[in-house]
Amino acid sequence: MIELGVNIDHVATLREARKGLEPDVIAAARVCELAGAHQITVHLRQDRRHIQDHDVAELKEELEVRLNLEMAAVEEIIEIAHHVQPDTVCLVPESREEITTEGGLDVAAQQDYLKEVVEGMHERGISVSMFIDPDQHQVDASLLTGADYVELHTGAYANAVDQAVARELDRLRKCGEYVLEAGLGLHAGHGLTVENLEAVARMPGLREVNIGHSILARALFIGLENAVSEILEVLRECSPHVERRAGRRG
Ligand code: PXP
Repeated sequence: MIELGVNIDHVATLREARKGLEPDVIAAARVCELAGAHQITVHLRQDRRHIQDHDVAELKEELEVRLNLEMAAVEEIIEIAHHVQPDTVCLVPESREEITTEGGLDVAAQQDYLKEVVEGMHERGISVSMFIDPDQHQVDASLLTGADYVELHTGAYANAVDQAVARELDRLRKCGEYVLEAGLGLHAGHGLTVENLEAVARMPGLREVNIGHSILARALFIGLENAVSEILEVLRECSPHVERRAGRRG
């Protein structure tokens, strides 16, 4: 089945609004696990606007499922990743002014440096994903760094309207095929919702999606467990070779 990483950054956003203890990030991760999430994803930003260092260390201790750490490839955060040893790191671009991760990482522009970063992670048993725009040039560069996966940035698709939706989807699909031909694992994420997920989840060879904001937003109205479950339901429907539960279509 296509796996789901739930990004719980915004549980910490709410906590940091009061600099207190609630809502509890670890408790939220547990609810996601119990609902069937395959991975918990957090972004430890340099400005620490939501997730804090202690969250990452505690999640690594407490989680039953994999921990995926999104991070900028900068020395301070690399040191933390080496120390905590999440299962995966996803290298993302980061700028202080952005509201969220705005574009993909320009892997080609810093290929030699990122190759060293990937090697350092691999030496510690950490797999590496590159968060890139659906651009073959960036796939080639990611392959040359030794990365294990690429996560295609689905933000342009998620924000598209009218004819642009089909155009963005086509870009993702073509790039997805190229990723698989290159022998890299194919992930996708950013801006995905229960409404727009299906078309992305039908991309052949997709193995993982990471979804945060829409799950947390839905959780306000239907609860976190239900918000995770409804996304898993879409993934199950779209995953090849998944046995349907009794009584379900197909
Ligand atoms: N994947 C990556 C690499 C991201 O940076 C983010 C946002 O932190 C996500 C997935 C999740 O995006 P969203 O919160 O829009 O679902």
